[in-house]
Amino acid sequence: MRNVTILGSTGSIGLNTLNVIEKHPDRFCVVALTAYSNVDLLAQQAIKFKVKHAVIGDEALYEDLKAALSGHEISCAAGEEAIVEATRIPADITMAAIVGMAGLPSLMAAIEQGGFIALANKEPLVAAGAQVLEVVERSGATLLPVDSEHNAIFQVFEKDNANAIERLILTASGGPFRDWSFEEMEKATPEQAVAHPNWTMGAKISVDSASMMNKALEVIEAHYLFEMPADKIEVLVHPQSVIHSMVEYNDGSVLSQMGASDMCTPITNILGWPRRIATPGEKLDLSKMSNLSFEQVDNARFPSIQMAYDALNSGQAACVSMNAANEIAVAAFLSHKIAFLDIYKIIREVLDKQETAPLKSLNDVFSYDKVARDIAESLIH
Ligand SMILES: NC(=O)c1ccc[n+]([C@@H]2O[C@H](COP(=O)([O-])OP(=O)(O)OC[C@H]3O[C@@H](n4cnc5c(N)ncnc54)[C@H](OP(=O)(O)O)[C@@H]3O)[C@@H](O)[C@H]2O)c1
Repeated sequence: MRNVTILGSTGSIGLNTLNVIEKHPDRFCVVALTAYSNVDLLAQQAIKFKVKHAVIGDEALYEDLKAALSGHEISCAAGEEAIVEATRIPADITMAAIVGMAGLPSLMAAIEQGGFIALANKEPLVAAGAQVLEVVERSGATLLPVDSEHNAIFQVFEKDNANAIERLILTASGGPFRDWSFEEMEKATPEQAVAHPNWTMGAKISVDSASMMNKALEVIEAHYLFEMPADKIEVLVHPQSVIHSMVEYNDGSVLSQMGASDMCTPITNILGWPRRIATPGEKLDLSKMSNLSFEQVDNARFPSIQMAYDALNSGQAACVSMNAANEIAVAAFLSHKIAFLDIYKIIREVLDKQETAPLKSLNDVFSYDKVARDIAESLIH
């Protein structure tokens, strides 16, 4: 029996994680759940899975959560610090599934506890990779990648042959605007951007997929997770999303992991790891596939990926700026304040305007991230 805590249980990854757990009541016990504002769903989940503790991020919702849980033996709390505190309840696996940099404090606190960390929340690693890995090293925690591409690489990554790896090849669906012209993308609405052809995901990552900023973040994520230099990480567009990523070795072998476009597969893989357990999700039926295709990224229409390489080559500060500017720009796009292509303009401007700085500590990262957000906000209002 593994005890599991889910940070961000009401989101897309959180829901899929609970689906997997529900299929294996003899293997998993949920100890704590956190959400930000969806108090009703959080309370339902907490009651259904008989958790010990539930936390709502928005302090104004504390009384609502308390009322919803009354009569049940579930303790509750509210606020950002309470989310961090929830990671201190002993758990064998913590699923980090909060969206954005908001997940960094609880991710760090979970890593400090040691144990298995199922990492879906990629933004903290993109911005604070050096600091995250330092704490992993110190605490002895094991970082397990949930992102489908990194999970695919994880499944075919031969640690003992790491120096025989020539390339990590991250596949990208190309998102909903893969074939769109600049003119069409200029007019793209949030509704069109979140309508991903292959995956059902939260709003922020869906927009990131449309701009291919998701793949940009994933290049940086792969750099930290697999300790690979930028020039050994490539991106290839694979519209069918069947091959989730590949590792090319120097003997010419290219190993890949395939599966349906269903996050239950990587989540199940990580929750069960190192054993293989059954997924409640979709299975791949290759007989129904007439074609698996691959193409280069069009860097003119999707400048995001080159931005990630430039940021990696420039240093951690640029990764922080890029991620922070993207978070602000995506939120502004989702609230109809800016056009889709403004996302790139805002990121570029923040990268240009913010002077680079050495980031020696987590506090340095938070301060630098805050300045990047302020610059991005100033470009919107
Ligand atoms: N969705 C996918 O298929 C997928 C695949 C690979 C990687 N990821 C990564 O996984 C992470 C989660 O993605 P998602 O699509 O599941 O996001 P999502 O559906 O938007 O869910 C986000 C979760 O985080 C909570 N949350 C939001 N803001 C918060 C804050 N300020 N403080 C604390 N909690 C907060 C939300 O609570 P409320 O519901 O109460 O707002 C929700 O539980 C992202 O980093 C994403 O890039 C997602």
